[in-house]
Amino acid sequence: MEKQKFTYKQTKLSKYENKYRIKCFENSTNNVGSITFEIKGKIMWLHHLLVKAPYRRQHIGKELLKLMENFARENQIYTVKGKFYPESDADGVRTFYETQGYVVPNKTQNWETYDDTWVMYKNLGYAHSTTQTHTEKEK
Ligand SMILES: CC(C)(COP(=O)(O)OP(=O)(O)OC[C@H]1O[C@@H](n2cnc3c(N)ncnc32)[C@H](O)[C@@H]1OP(=O)(O)O)[C@@H](O)C(=O)NCCC(=O)NCCS
Repeated sequence: MEKQKFTYKQTKLSKYENKYRIKCFENSTNNVGSITFEIKGKIMWLHHLLVKAPYRRQHIGKELLKLMENFARENQIYTVKGKFYPESDADGVRTFYETQGYVVPNKTQNWETYDDTWVMYKNLGYAHSTTQTHTEKEK
């Protein structure tokens, strides 16, 4: 059986109450990328996502995002937000997030116009439970 090349490991960052990191390892030991995120109320805040340059375009970034989103859903969190930086427009990062379903602010690439409104987001969708709704109506 072919050995899986990339493995993913999630840890909680001990200094913080709700901050986590998922690392991607090549052949179990070589860290080739990571995502750092934090639960803040009903929002999942994406702080940092990086895949080392030689390992890009192998769907590691996509997988790291997906694992974070699954963890959000497991915690009944259905909105992801993150700051989007002007320099990211230049190297395909905007396209990456847009292909993964994120709404990215459409602004001129310019640090002089940078402010708190440069926030990208994704709605993860709610999991509906008809049984629960029915029970609530009967009360
Ligand atoms: C953005 C980043 C995390 C993407 O990681 P990645 O593992 O290379 O991305 P994936 O392989 O999962 O890409 C998934 C899809 O996104 C799109 N995409 C990714 N990188 C792209 C690029 N440079 N240009 C255009 N589209 C891109 C493609 O549609 C891709 O699918 P495909 O390769 O089958 O066509 C990585 O490029 C990176 O670390 N960049 C520098 C750090 C950074 O700016 N991080 C974000 C701010 S915190």
